[in-house]
Amino acid sequence: MRTQVVIIGSGPAGLLLGQLLHRRGVDTIVLENRSRDYVLGRIRAGVLEQGTVALLDEVGLGARMHREGLPHDGTELCFDGRRHRIDFKEQTGTTVMVYGQTEVTRDLMDGRAAVGAPTVYEADGVALHDIATDHPRVTYSKDGVSHEIQCDFIAGCDGFHGPSRPAIPVGVLKTYERVYPFGWLGILSETPPVSDELIYANHERGFALCSMRSKTRSRYYIQCRLDEKEEEWSDGRFWDELKRRLDEKAASTIVTGPSIEKSIAPLRSFVAEPMRFGRLFLAGDSAHIVPPTGAKGLNLAASDVHYLANALGEYYSAKSSAGIDHYSQQALSRVWKAVRFSWWMTNLMHRFPNTEPFDYKMQVAELDYLVHSKAAMTSMAENYVGLPF
Ligand code: APR
Ligand code: PHB
Repeated sequence: MRTQVVIIGSGPAGLLLGQLLHRRGVDTIVLENRSRDYVLGRIRAGVLEQGTVALLDEVGLGARMHREGLPHDGTELCFDGRRHRIDFKEQTGTTVMVYGQTEVTRDLMDGRAAVGAPTVYEADGVALHDIATDHPRVTYSKDGVSHEIQCDFIAGCDGFHGPSRPAIPVGVLKTYERVYPFGWLGILSETPPVSDELIYANHERGFALCSMRSKTRSRYYIQCRLDEKEEEWSDGRFWDELKRRLDEKAASTIVTGPSIEKSIAPLRSFVAEPMRFGRLFLAGDSAHIVPPTGAKGLNLAASDVHYLANALGEYYSAKSSAGIDHYSQQALSRVWKAVRFSWWMTNLMHRFPNTEPFDYKMQVAELDYLVHSKAAMTSMAENYVGLPF
């Protein structure tokens, strides 16, 4: 079997890359080790930067997002018992779109099927071969039958635990990591959101976030210790703790209800360099991880594949390697700025163990400065809505 680009992974990065390459007349095969339903069952943040919205429009898959998504002109920061609004539109002239990652993935899967581009689900033992040569190969098995795909390029869109990043030789790959000493306990509930916009709360008891999936489905998080387990948190305990971390109005008006999903996620910052080795390109979580505080994960996957699709399109249309030779440097430049913003917001909003009362006062002082300074609000807003691609 042969194709031009093998894409490993059918998450947002792999699927969006597949659509962008299809529009450029580049043939791909997507290999995914999980089932379609398993991939769609993942609960992930869905705050889309305008660049990501534009890419979904570019591949003709933005209709449901515009119909069902929630445009947000700002967000609220809660500290010292008070909420303060950061107006994205006033500070930057642009907004974000709240539209669950599951829905983005579903739209991309449907779009790929609609153009008849092949995806192999439940592909086992995906392995990369000869990536340092001009004739890379990918092998896998499906229903016990072994397969080999010869290709020009491999796009490693297989997330943090996939096989692509480890295929880069140890002596070449450099990694940078910060693991945070806490996690996020999140629940999904069929209840109306407590506010029209997201609320990020810094409280002495810990961080909290009020988000949403629609006008009838809410997503809430509270910072928790890494040694805690979901089963230690009844719904009632979760709601009580969340209310303690919010301002009085939110705490008194929040509509609670049974959780339909409850999970604890660790937080880390991670970047792997380079994002290209030979005929292998990394994109999305295979190359970098951000703490969800800045809602950057999905949007970095989008900007990576935007650059990569342009580079590969140029290779095939203009027979030029300039784009693919520049890809890693170009992608990493935007990645590091988003990693910095996510790190900054995580340090500003969370309670770190063994910190002094002075450290909490510094956080509150920075938040107080932020919400009263146009320059500071503009800086935060332009990072949150997304720096230019
Ligand atoms: N073989 C084939 N597919 C694999 C393998 C493998 N060995 N290992 C992982 N995969 C698949 C995963 O099952 C997943 O569907 O690769 C896909 C990677 O998708 P994501 O993890 O969603 O990563 P990405 O597409 O880069 O999207 C980043 O997803 O994890 C969130 O917060 C992150 O919002 C960000 C977004
Ligand atoms: C979410 O809705 O899951 C969400 C929103 C914003 C974040 C993180 C998660 O910063």
